[in-house]
Amino acid sequence: MTAVTYEHIKTCRQSGARLGKVHTPHGSFDTPAFMPVGTLATVKTLSPEELESMGAGMILSNTYHLWIRPGEDIVEEAGGLHKFMNWNKPILTDSGGFQVFSLSKLRDIKEEGVHFRNHISGAKLFLSPEKAMQIQNSLGADVMMAFDECPPYPAEEEYMKASVERTTRWAERCLEAHTRPKDQALFGIVQGGDYQHLREKSAKELISMDFPGYAIGGLSVGEPKETMNRVLEYTAPLLPQNKPRYLMGVGSADALIDGSIRGIDMFDCVLPTRIGRNGTCMTSKGRLVVRNASNARDFRPIDEACSCYTCRNYSRAYIRHLIKSEETFGVRLTSYHNLYFLLSLMQQVREAIQQDRLLDFRETFFEQYGFNRP
Ligand code: GUN
Ligand code: ZN
Repeated sequence: MTAVTYEHIKTCRQSGARLGKVHTPHGSFDTPAFMPVGTLATVKTLSPEELESMGAGMILSNTYHLWIRPGEDIVEEAGGLHKFMNWNKPILTDSGGFQVFSLSKLRDIKEEGVHFRNHISGAKLFLSPEKAMQIQNSLGADVMMAFDECPPYPAEEEYMKASVERTTRWAERCLEAHTRPKDQALFGIVQGGDYQHLREKSAKELISMDFPGYAIGGLSVGEPKETMNRVLEYTAPLLPQNKPRYLMGVGSADALIDGSIRGIDMFDCVLPTRIGRNGTCMTSKGRLVVRNASNARDFRPIDEACSCYTCRNYSRAYIRHLIKSEETFGVRLTSYHNLYFLLSLMQQVREAIQQDRLLDFRETFFEQYGFNRP
C-alpha cells in the first residue's frame, strides 16, 4: 500500500476527463483539482482557515525555498511542514529542480547533480536527487516530487534526449534515497518537451519504476498553448489509469479546462496569487486589471458573477485605491478572489464531468471569457 492512492469515479462521456479522489495521509480531495502555491510555507497573504473555506484541497510548497530559509531542519523540529504552517490537509512539495533552473542564472548540470548559486546571497549550493529527497523527507509533505531537469523551450532534440535519460537516472536515485515511502508518496516527472518519442521514452522508463503518481513537467515554459495541448493529448494516455496525473506549473483558467479534458487530475501555479499582487483579477469575463484608471469610479464588484468574500463586500474602486496605495489589504482581497475563482472553476469542471458535459461547459466558459471572440 502506498501513502497516496487514486480512486477513479468516472470518465466524462464528452471527453477523456476524469472525476476522482486522491487519498493521502492528511485526508482526501476531489479531482481534477487546482493546488494553490505556498512557496515559503504560506499561500501569500491568506490564512489556512481562508484557504480551507474557499475549498482548497492540497497545497504546494517548495523544497528549494524552505531549504534556503528557514532550513528543513527547523521545519522538521517543528514537527514537519503541516504543523509548522498549521495546514493539516494534504501538501505536495516540488523537488527544487525547476526552481534551480528558473531562479539561478549560474548553474552547472552534472551527472551527480546541479551546482548553482543561492538567488538571495549568491552562496554556492549543490542539489542532487539524494539531497532533494533528504530535504523533502524532512519537510514531510504527503507527495514529494522526483528531482528532474526541466529544459527550456525550445530545446534541441539531442539535448532533450540526454536530459530525459538523466532525469530517468535521477528518478532511480530518488526512489533509492526515499526513506519514508509509508507516509510520503514520491511522484515521477515525465519530460521530453514537444518530442513525442521522447515523452513516450520518458513515460515508459518512469512507469517501469512504479511510482504512485506521475507528473507531466516541462510545459508552460513558453510554448504556444496548442503545443501544450498536443503534448498532453499524446502523453496523458501513456500514464497508468489507476494513479494521479499532475500537470506542473499550469494555472490559467483555459489551461485548467483544456488539461482536464485531456485527463489531468492535478494542477498548480503561482499565477492567481502573482497577478493578484499586481492588481490583476481573473473573472468570468476574462482578466480585469483592477489597477487601471477606468476603475477609479467603478463601484461594482470585481466579478458580478462571483460570490467570494471580496466580491460580496468590496468595489473595484476601493480595491484599486488600496492596490495603488500599496495597502496590504488590497493584495489580500485580490489574492482571495483569484484563488476562489480558480477553485470554484474546478468545482464546476468536476460537476460538468459528473454530468458528461465538459465540452459544453468549455464552450460556454470560453465564450464568456472572450476566447471565442474574433
Ligand atoms: N514546475 C513546473 N514545471 C516543472 C517541471 O518540469 N519540473 C519540476 N520539478 N517542477 C516544475
Ligand atoms: Zn470574487
